[in-house]
Amino acid sequence: MEDVYEKLLRCVDSVRKKVDFVPQVALVLGSGLGDFADGIRVEAEINYHDIEGFPVSTVPGHAGKFIFGYVGDVPVVCMKGRVHYYEGYAMSDVVLPIRLMKMLGAQVLFLTNAAGGIQLGMKAGDLMLITGQIASFVPSPLIGPNIDELGVRFPDMSEIYNRDLILTARKCAAELGIDLKEGTYLQFTGPAYESPQEVAMARILGADAVGMSTACEAVAANHMGMRIVGISCISNLACGISPAPLSHSEVQQAADGVAPRFQALVTQMIKEIEKTCR
Ligand code: HPA
Repeated sequence: MEDVYEKLLRCVDSVRKKVDFVPQVALVLGSGLGDFADGIRVEAEINYHDIEGFPVSTVPGHAGKFIFGYVGDVPVVCMKGRVHYYEGYAMSDVVLPIRLMKMLGAQVLFLTNAAGGIQLGMKAGDLMLITGQIASFVPSPLIGPNIDELGVRFPDMSEIYNRDLILTARKCAAELGIDLKEGTYLQFTGPAYESPQEVAMARILGADAVGMSTACEAVAANHMGMRIVGISCISNLACGISPAPLSHSEVQQAADGVAPRFQALVTQMIKEIEKTCR
């Protein structure tokens, strides 16, 4: 098996042969932000397929691409489409794109996703600022020989979600009149939605929302010293909290309904984040 770091370097090389754009902020577009790229002044795009060794989603039609461009004056790289652990990839492949974006220059990682709401009073269509996470139900992406070039063997995880960026998110939400919930995100592997008992367990553990991505990406990014901010689009109430069975299309539909608010918040935040990068 190819060494994880060698594969990463090969992907960086492959991207650098196509674009020399240096992003400041890396953005992972989850459900509800699919159209975000329409508001970007695009400089270049690369299909994941065209990056040697890059993990490509197994969901038909969802291969995805990197979009390089500007939000306001801020140079960003967006991931339109991510791979999930439940698709069968090694964790090192799931987080490879995050590591790649850091190696291209991004210092800030903006993670977004769709999630099931657990917190009392939450409703479908809410946005939740991720202030903490539980990643213990998925394998760590740092398992295996440590990649010293990326970070230390035993990285501190006491502040995965950057305090200043949390303040930025609150400020931007207030300015836009968005009621931004806050809480802890818990990642399960999926692909099945949780049982009501699993959701009850997650609540006891302190989770406010559950999903199938993000926490592992945040662990890998924190290992590399990126400043991280995360927002969940609460596309549904988690199983057992919602009286109705869950279906992917309903989750998708609800996420689409939040899209305008979600996009406005992310755009405003990126412009604000730039001020703290200078
Ligand atoms: N559970 C897990 N992942 C999800 C959910 C959920 O209820 N909704 C959207 N992604």
